[in-house]
Amino acid sequence: MPYLSILPMEWERSLDKLYNFADCSGLHLIFALNALCRNPNNSWNSSNALSLIKYSAGKKYNISWELGNEPNNYRALTGRAVNGTQLGKDYAQLKRLLQLIRTYSRASLYGPNIGRPKKNVVALLDGFMKAAGNIVDAVTWQHYYLDGRVAKVTDFLKTRLLDTLSDQIRKIQKVVNAHTPGKKIWLEGIGATSEGGITNLSDSYAASFLWLNSLGILASQGIDVIMRHSFFDHGHNHLVDQNFNPLPDYWLSLLYKQLVGPRALALHVAGLQRKPRPGRVIRDKLRIYAHCTSHHKSVQLNGQLLTMVDDGTLPPLKPRSLRPGRTLVIPPLTMSFYVVKNVNALACRYR
Ligand SMILES: *[C@@H]1O[C@H](CO)[C@@H](O)[C@H](O)[C@H]1NC(C)=O
Ligand SMILES: *[C@@H]1O[C@H](CO)[C@@H](O)[C@H](O)[C@H]1NC(C)=O
Ligand SMILES: *[C@@H]1O[C@H](CO)[C@@H](O)[C@H](O)[C@H]1NC(C)=O
Ligand SMILES: *[C@@H]1O[C@H](CO)[C@@H](O)[C@H](O)[C@H]1NC(C)=O
Ligand SMILES: *[C@@H]1O[C@H](CO)[C@@H](O)[C@H](O)[C@H]1NC(C)=O
Repeated sequence: MPYLSILPMEWERSLDKLYNFADCSGLHLIFALNALCRNPNNSWNSSNALSLIKYSAGKKYNISWELGNEPNNYRALTGRAVNGTQLGKDYAQLKRLLQLIRTYSRASLYGPNIGRPKKNVVALLDGFMKAAGNIVDAVTWQHYYLDGRVAKVTDFLKTRLLDTLSDQIRKIQKVVNAHTPGKKIWLEGIGATSEGGITNLSDSYAASFLWLNSLGILASQGIDVIMRHSFFDHGHNHLVDQNFNPLPDYWLSLLYKQLVGPRALALHVAGLQRKPRPGRVIRDKLRIYAHCTSHHKSVQLNGQLLTMVDDGTLPPLKPRSLRPGRTLVIPPLTMSFYVVKNVNALACRYR
């Protein structure tokens, strides 16, 4: 569960620190409010959340919101279940609260942040979508490949594990599209293992196959926002260690960000079977994804993207000529070089 526990006595200070950290890092904060404050009739008691929302509005914090985390586990955690219809109504209540506060009248709201879409979880999502599908800006769920208490290194290398995510995406999409076709779906928490992960495994090279393959699968199935659980924590699903040294998944993420653009391409590989035939012993061990390369960091010259022709050759730098008498237009946020031809200025003559 990728959330900070906030001590009651000093929550204002904790929120300040959290917000400042996100702000300084260029990150946008999505705050999950406590969904477990409940009235006797099981509806959400928002009084506690309202104090926090008002406090952050006073500080003009730019925050998006959600309500709760893995609501499908509430019965196991607290002995009190919350069904999808009720949770949807709670979201509607939260939306009304936010609309009354000017800073947040148009703030984004995400949910329901469910776990693995097993049968009862799909039912929860269905009830939620019926009641609140039009209220949330994106539908969110979480995925952990392995049970963090029992996984071994050989578990991380089972190729059939790589394919489990695909089925889950389809299940979520089916429910979402039945209620609100085209609504964005976000994977709001992903890690190799649940329960904080396993020492020397969840943060090792062995777990990286799951991570990189997840990015490929999600993009190819139209999910364009993925939140990693986590960047830094006291478990072992993190991207940097306790001394902030990058771990394998960090380096992979860095390369991915630099090379892989957001547009995923359809791919057919001749002679390769994507799905094993039933009964075949050798399963497919290779996963290939294709994307347009990332244009992030890139520079255009007169509307043309500048890229190397090959390892050692610069591209032609083509000027755009203007006829005499034409107005020079200097667009905002651009950098320009102008050559004025045939001026023949004295100071520019050689010797
Ligand atoms: C909601 O919770 C607050 C305490 O957080 C309590 O004072 C209030 O009475 C509760 N409201 C209802 C309707 O139960
Ligand atoms: C549930 O209880 C709350 C707090 O007492 C109340 O405001 C709300 O109207 C009740 N909801 C229903 C459906 O009775
Ligand atoms: C708040 O943050 C979101 C996401 O980064 C951004 O799109 C929006 O413009 C920001 N709103 C304000 C008022 O700065
Ligand atoms: C959902 O929960 C609410 C409140 O606990 C209850 O009133 C309602 O009947 C439940 N709905 C379904 C479909 O189970
Ligand atoms: C994890 O690996 C480090 C470095 O190899 C080792 O010192 C440590 O004992 C290992 N921890 C566990 C719990 O295996």
